[in-house]
Amino acid sequence: MVQINVWKWSKRRPCFQITFLIFMVFIAATSLFNELKIQHFDHHNPQIQSDRNHLPNSNHLNPTEIDRFTECSSTEKYSGRKIEWNENDRLKPVSDSEKECDVFSGKWVFDNTSHPLYIESSCPYMSDQLACHKHGRADLNYQYWRWQPNDCNLKRWNVAEMWEKLRGKRLMFVGDSLNRGQWISLVCLLQSVVPANKRSMSPNAHLTIFRAEEYNASIEFLWAPLLVDSNSDDPVNHRLGDRIIRPDSAYRHLSKWADADILVFNTYLWWRQGPVKLLWKSEENGVCEELDGQGAMELAMKTWAKWVNSDDNHNKRRVFFVTMSPTHQWGREWNPKSEGNCYGENHPITEKKYWGSGSDLPTMTMVENILARLGSKVTVLNITQLSEYRKDGHPSIYRKFWETLSPEQLSKPESYSDCIHWCLPGVPDVWNELLFHFL
Ligand SMILES: *[C@@H]1O[C@H](CO)[C@@H](O)[C@H](O)[C@H]1NC(C)=O
Ligand SMILES: *[C@@H]1O[C@H](CO)[C@@H](O)[C@H](O)[C@H]1NC(C)=O
Ligand SMILES: *[C@@H]1O[C@H](CO)[C@@H](O)[C@H](O)[C@H]1NC(C)=O
Repeated sequence: MVQINVWKWSKRRPCFQITFLIFMVFIAATSLFNELKIQHFDHHNPQIQSDRNHLPNSNHLNPTEIDRFTECSSTEKYSGRKIEWNENDRLKPVSDSEKECDVFSGKWVFDNTSHPLYIESSCPYMSDQLACHKHGRADLNYQYWRWQPNDCNLKRWNVAEMWEKLRGKRLMFVGDSLNRGQWISLVCLLQSVVPANKRSMSPNAHLTIFRAEEYNASIEFLWAPLLVDSNSDDPVNHRLGDRIIRPDSAYRHLSKWADADILVFNTYLWWRQGPVKLLWKSEENGVCEELDGQGAMELAMKTWAKWVNSDDNHNKRRVFFVTMSPTHQWGREWNPKSEGNCYGENHPITEKKYWGSGSDLPTMTMVENILARLGSKVTVLNITQLSEYRKDGHPSIYRKFWETLSPEQLSKPESYSDCIHWCLPGVPDVWNELLFHFL
């Protein structure tokens, strides 16, 4: 099963730790679509043939088969093999006009006139994992905060204008369940102005598509928690034990995302659960190499960056990368007297530059170095700091849980609190306001 030593800072409390891990496994296992009961999965054949023509790198021509049944015949130490891309070729830095104001530095302002931007119960696509009010959360203050940058204002959210930007386009979120939360947020932000018979949600385990006919536009979500091909690419049936990735191929996902006009990527939490096994494309005998999570994430990020860099469509296409979403598992990090976590928190952290241990700085530096080399080909949505303040924004116990909770768990709510995902309406709406700001 999942490595127990991941959550290093929890060593002091083994019982809680194990409960938490079981919970994590559980969240991962159910992280997609279980709650969207309206859907019946139809497993389309991936359009591998027709999509091939769009792929920029000819070395992607061989679809790499890796799935949850993949096994390593043996495992060796990491050989040091790298992903080659334009390591030395630093692109021009972002222009001064883009740097004018750092919209990611600022503070949360209580503003119940402008927020929330939609009503939880009026969004038919809301997820039961994120609908906190529906699941019993009584204080709704988490819905009323507006993000206020220090030196300027965010572009004012405008549904009609956003639809105009999306007209005739495919916007695709690619990543894990946090990215999926942002996708649901955007669908909820935008769906109300489209008549019910002019919109649709077509589920398809790997790729889910929200379409709005009038605008000939779609807002899609592609499950790719590790960006590259892996044994965790089935959104419902993941393999939860060993993570096995193809460090040098994102073929499965790329064949879907290659036609999108606007791409929003994320990846992080899935790399935080211990060592990862690498199964290189050229390896024919199933021999894996083992590497720590951050090292493996770096290989995956470079494979992704290589695609972004070589994408000859980048004049028409916009690519965004969303930085790590913070977690609030350890109350003592913002309140030394606390034994708990995000459960019961109903106010943002006010300490300037507060940064919790869940957001790994070396990982951030690695990501920043890669993104810097992509220059203007990628726009960074640096949501980490602003979301760090929002210990009040998580579902904690106010979401649908898929397993039956034991009396022992129920008597100690923090033991099964979800302090990873975010309630909607809430923090991910602001990530989308930032997306709108830069689009
Ligand atoms: C907004 O919040 C203030 C202060 O908490 C309260 O007095 C007011 O009734 C609220 N307004 C709305 C529209 O909820
Ligand atoms: C709808 O958008 C697609 C691109 O997503 C485009 O190829 C197609 O021509 C558009 N159709 C109309 C009727 O505008
Ligand atoms: C995001 O912002 C933080 C400061 O809040 C900074 O340390 C980090 O390097 C930034 N990350 C990226 C990828 O720009």
